Amino acid sequence: MNQSVNLQLDQMTPRQIVEELDKYIIGQTKAKKAVAIALRNRTRRQQLSAEMRDEVYPKNIIMIGSTGVGKTEIARRLSKLSGAPFLKVEATKYTEVGYVGRDVESMIRDLMATAIALVKTELQANLTGEAQLHTEDALLDLLLPGSRKEGDASGTETREKFREKLRRGDFDDKKVEIQTSVKGGNSAVELLGGANLEEMDQNLGGALGNIFGSRKKKRTVSVKQAREILFADELDKLVDMDQVVETARERAQSMGIIFIDEIDKIASRNSGGGGGPDVSREGVQRDILPIIEGSKVTTKWGAIDTSHILFIAAGAFHVSKPSDLIPELQGRFPIRVELEDLTHADFQRILTQPKNNLLLQYKELLRTEGVEVIFTEEAVDRLASYAFEVNSTTENIGARRLHTVLELLMEELSFTAPEIPGQSVTITPEYIDERLKPVVQDQDLARYIL
Ligand SMILES: Nc1ncnc2c1ncn2[C@@H]1O[C@H](COP(=O)(O)OP(=O)(O)OP(=O)(O)O)[C@@H](O)[C@H]1O
Ligand SMILES: [Mg+2]
Repeated sequence: MNQSVNLQLDQMTPRQIVEELDKYIIGQTKAKKAVAIALRNRTRRQQLSAEMRDEVYPKNIIMIGSTGVGKTEIARRLSKLSGAPFLKVEATKYTEVGYVGRDVESMIRDLMATAIALVKTELQANLTGEAQLHTEDALLDLLLPGSRKEGDASGTETREKFREKLRRGDFDDKKVEIQTSVKGGNSAVELLGGANLEEMDQNLGGALGNIFGSRKKKRTVSVKQAREILFADELDKLVDMDQVVETARERAQSMGIIFIDEIDKIASRNSGGGGGPDVSREGVQRDILPIIEGSKVTTKWGAIDTSHILFIAAGAFHVSKPSDLIPELQGRFPIRVELEDLTHADFQRILTQPKNNLLLQYKELLRTEGVEVIFTEEAVDRLASYAFEVNSTTENIGARRLHTVLELLMEELSFTAPEIPGQSVTITPEYIDERLKPVVQDQDLARYIL
């Protein structure tokens, strides 16, 4: 997503935010409004006096709705539109402190990591010119060792000639040996496993980072490759990491959004016998509570205050209810929005209206084979009908059904397209009936294939 859009979102009114979401998500106006208001409230809060600002807490949201009606999609779009640090997590991924697994505080560390990456990219956008110059000089040093001398007129002249050639790409295929810092840090730490390595690293005063992070390695590469590698290195060197961390912390604390999916899966308080897993689910809820109420979480970038992070939770709540969450947690999610089940008309619109909608995706994919696909209006209507029917006779998986139905419909054409370049294929209700009817009418078959 481009930067100007990101920066605009802060300034957008709730109505404008909803309009932006409307481009991708059909219906669900209540949910869109709720998130739009919540976002706007953040911007409003920023403009209050410091004293008042600290009193205003984010109004967290629970989105309730059947599977496949757009809960995650709304959050995903929001994250793409928003310049705010955004993290999506699954509630079921976490385990109670003391058990093996990810502890809930890691979500704050992950949010901060997202903020760092975001701010770093923003700052680096202004440094590309400088980094390019540095890269050129580093390459010239490699191509003309010792040419960077003060007061050596002929040397300087040669160097400038080389610079021109370098810019023209004359040396692109020449091999040079460069030193690269092996940033294996993260992957090495991940290899060792365990979510708490980061904490361990803190305790060791960053020793792990030093072991894994700053190794240097010599490599022989083409000038073309070297330019990319050195450019990334130079950008890294130029950006002021202290400033990045400072800005990122501020951004994460006051603008951060955490989307907790599948919250209903940790909500079953009394259901299920034995209590074994439930006890630990409630444990996860208890662990989440202080983070949502506002506490300080230690990260390797310092303590992060969670008081003003916006939490959006979502779940189908078929088995459990929001009232099955522990009461303290319920109180921290004062806004409840229900997403509606999608209608036949919604399906038609989902197929054709969103930017990059499903039908357009298939058309574009097959256009790469030189095949033109046309869906008639009646065909769209028929497709929606089949999706709707299968949802009601087998399992209701919402708009996801459109994906499975379309995939079956297009299977044959996807296979044969390379053999019929230049042709145009019109998808009519008859074409659809021929391929889908036998499957849809046989419920057992439908269950397996759709
Ligand atoms: N209202 C909608 N408008 C456009 N597309 C939608 C809509 N609802 C769902 N979709 C499409 O259906 C798919 C599934 O939607 P999504 O992931 O948002 O479901 P969900 O509500 O989060 O379900 P679950 O409870 O299973 O997580 C996505 O690919 C999305 O593009
Ligand atoms: Mg979802």
